[in-house]
Amino acid sequence: MSERHVVLREGERVLIRPLRPEDAALYPDFLADVTQDDLRLRFFSSMRTISPKMIDQLVHYDPAVAIAFAAIEETSGKLLGVVRLHDDASAEHGEFAILLRSHLKGHGLGWLMMQHVIAYARDKGLTAVRGQVLAENTTMLQMCSELGFAVSDDPDERGIKQVELPLKALPAAVSSILP
Ligand SMILES: CC(C)(COP(=O)(O)OP(=O)(O)OC[C@H]1O[C@@H](n2cnc3c(N)ncnc32)[C@H](O)[C@@H]1OP(=O)(O)O)[C@@H](O)C(=O)NCCC(=O)NCCS
Repeated sequence: MSERHVVLREGERVLIRPLRPEDAALYPDFLADVTQDDLRLRFFSSMRTISPKMIDQLVHYDPAVAIAFAAIEETSGKLLGVVRLHDDASAEHGEFAILLRSHLKGHGLGWLMMQHVIAYARDKGLTAVRGQVLAENTTMLQMCSELGFAVSDDPDERGIKQVELPLKALPAAVSSILP
């Protein structure tokens, strides 16, 4: 379950597949369509852009302990979004992060990419998927709730919520929508 073809709400055809090192070339065009606000929601700090060095790190992940999926628009080959999951030291939990082109928000891509990465974690045998989400990021928190994540305050960092989805006892309503 590493690749999947999906169709978004406006009919856009998208391939979700593992991110590859050569996708570094797609990042400048992708990031040109991501607002500073969305970068802050993803990285929790203000940044004007992402440096080539950081792009290099994002595309060179260790597949033994991490996965990143790219959403590629099939007609243009453009990178529309990336979701990633990094195992923690115990190799039992994975921590996700997701970023999409800002103009594509609300087209259903985030929902599909989250489902994709949750199914990957389930198939890998992880016990839970976790994430940190800024408290103001109501879209993401709402989506996490609908996907079955429990939402709680981060005990260490004010203004940040922790979200956790246990994978061993997935509610039927959630497992039935996973690929
Ligand atoms: C947060 C983010 C990933 C959401 O992605 P998105 O593509 O805009 O979200 P979607 O369109 O898939 O889903 C949004 C909505 O549809 C719901 N939804 C989508 N598909 C659905 C479906 N098939 N069935 C039911 N509900 C669905 C979601 O719960 C949500 O509800 P709303 O539109 O009523 O608010 C995206 O906005 C983003 O990249 N933001 C900036 C970075 C960020 O915040 N990252 C998260 C921190 S890790």
